[in-house]
Amino acid sequence: MVDLSADIGIPLKNPLILTSGILGSSAHLLKRVASSGAGALITKSITEDPRVGHENPTVIEVSEGLILNAMGLPNPGVDIFLNELETLEAVNLPIIPSVAGYSEDEFGRVASRLEDAGFRIIELNISCPHSTALSSKKVIAQDIDKTRRVVNAVRSVTSLKLIVKLSPNVTDIVEFADVAIKAGADALSLINTIEALEVDPYVEAPVLGNVFGGQSGPSIRCIAQRKLTDIALAMWKGEIERVPLIGVGGVRTPKDVFRFLLLGADAVGIGSSILYEDLAIFEDVIEGLEQIMTDKGYDMLDEFRGKVISQILDMTI
Ligand SMILES: Cc1cc2nc3c(=O)[nH]c(=O)nc-3n(C[C@H](O)[C@H](O)[C@H](O)COP(=O)(O)O)c2cc1C
Repeated sequence: MVDLSADIGIPLKNPLILTSGILGSSAHLLKRVASSGAGALITKSITEDPRVGHENPTVIEVSEGLILNAMGLPNPGVDIFLNELETLEAVNLPIIPSVAGYSEDEFGRVASRLEDAGFRIIELNISCPHSTALSSKKVIAQDIDKTRRVVNAVRSVTSLKLIVKLSPNVTDIVEFADVAIKAGADALSLINTIEALEVDPYVEAPVLGNVFGGQSGPSIRCIAQRKLTDIALAMWKGEIERVPLIGVGGVRTPKDVFRFLLLGADAVGIGSSILYEDLAIFEDVIEGLEQIMTDKGYDMLDEFRGKVISQILDMTI
């Protein structure tokens, strides 16, 4: 038997995490995820007040493996979210609420509510590319100063473990990783969706209700791998502080998870591929990962985590 245990600031029985937003936050759904085999789940992003989100269509499949969405962060608001979770019987995996907001103070207030409700760890979604109508504003994770201020604000009002979710839609993601860590991030997750757009050639109009959306699914995996690698290399070189990394983007198979671990991820998020594989993906990927490790003679993740990062470092030094 191989040991799949992982650590992102809290211990996980395995490195697979349901990434934020793909499934809702109802107690019923969270319970289903809890019995799916995932090591942890991150809820849909929660704001202080309820949000209805953007006009339909909000999610489309452009082609196999290429999903676009512009949900606009629909959620019931933190009060209803907490009431809903009260109805959830004890589940045997960590639930990580994702927090979104429009100001430092809102992030701080929602985070405090979650801490008071007994959560130990949250993810800060500062990187949703379509949180405003027509995606008209830069997101927090595209602005160094705002990134620092939001993380600082939450750090100063709670002692929660903080995962900060970074955006791929920047020139130098390492700069943002560095600022987030210095402001108090205990772990980083990346990537959120990539700014994208689709046009319907028949009706000669944009397809998504919000026009602009974010791309996800297997089509973005290599981009996510590249962004993760940029940060891991900076950490391995000692240029920025080392904190746990959650690799997210396009993961669908056991080999994909293995790839992210080789690139230094401490855990790996699965999102859009659930649309193809349903929640059975977690059991299937775990079984496949165990098989890969057994075939290669690995007993635990630390034996190969970051192996490809070390190789790249040897080439670049
Ligand atoms: C329909 C949909 C809704 C999403 N909602 C959220 C959200 O509420 N908060 C968030 O941080 N990320 C959200 N994301 C982004 C995912 O968590 C993830 O970062 C991204 O989709 C890349 O991973 P994937 O290719 O495995 O889906 C959403 C993605 C999709 C497709």
